[in-house]
Amino acid sequence: MLDLHNVHKRFGRLAAVAGVSLRVEAGEIVGLIGPNGSGKSTLLSTIAGAYCPDDGEILLDDQPIGGLAPDQIFARGLARSYQDPSLFFRMSALDNALLPARGQRGEKARHAPFRSRWWGQERAHVAEAAAILSDLKLEARAQTPASDLSGGQMKLLEIGRTLMGEPRLLLLDEPTAGVAPSLAYTIFEEIERMRAAHGLSFLIVEHRLEILFDFVDRLYVMHLGQVIAEGKPAEIEQNARVREVYFGA
Ligand SMILES: Nc1ncnc2c1ncn2[C@@H]1O[C@H](COP(=O)(O)OP(=O)(O)OP(=O)(O)O)[C@@H](O)[C@H]1O
Ligand SMILES: [Mg+2]
Repeated sequence: MLDLHNVHKRFGRLAAVAGVSLRVEAGEIVGLIGPNGSGKSTLLSTIAGAYCPDDGEILLDDQPIGGLAPDQIFARGLARSYQDPSLFFRMSALDNALLPARGQRGEKARHAPFRSRWWGQERAHVAEAAAILSDLKLEARAQTPASDLSGGQMKLLEIGRTLMGEPRLLLLDEPTAGVAPSLAYTIFEEIERMRAAHGLSFLIVEHRLEILFDFVDRLYVMHLGQVIAEGKPAEIEQNARVREVYFGA
């Protein structure tokens, strides 16, 4: 589904991503780990279109997407969440969940003044968003400003609401950062449930290896902008180079 060949992203003289090749098959949950500053977030941002790759090829369903704008990539079924929750904090949880819906008629100036043109679609979107909040056990928080949610609830909302855009592949940057341990596990259970219910694929950056290793099919390990290992959790745990750079052993 996602195929990277020799992708580079430089900031001035710093090669943040220095020739990464990786793939995510349909229905897979793939982990991406590595020490701080190894280029994981930069890689996700490059795949999602926030940065244009300096070199290499990014294919989604065999079509090149490198250099497309983020909204064009989103329209092809690739959504992401951020290391720091990127919600609109003064808007309610429900309104935040409504944002990613595609093709909202009321956003068009020529339709907006005529309620009858968008009312039905808006109601359908609200029903869909409410169902997502309910799956996340956030229905009681629907009208709560996002700023008043717990850290874990913010992460759940940010991940869950991507479903409004009907994605097929999700890139998640540290879905459990700043979340209490018990809820961190719940977030990964939710990720697994989303895969089963919607047939999604995932590429997940995560520092909590003890949780990540329970849920991923495969992992890539980055160090200094490059992939230094790839394999199943048990293989990665045993990899001498990974232990050296990542676990310091
Ligand atoms: N916008 C930017 N401009 C300049 N340098 C950047 C920029 N973003 C990241 N970097 C640098 O690129 C390198 C990789 O950063 P990146 O955020 O991708 O690492 P990471 O693996 O996500 O780290 P962490 O685990 O701490 O989140 C770092 O040296 C970082 O300082
Ligand atoms: Mg990062």
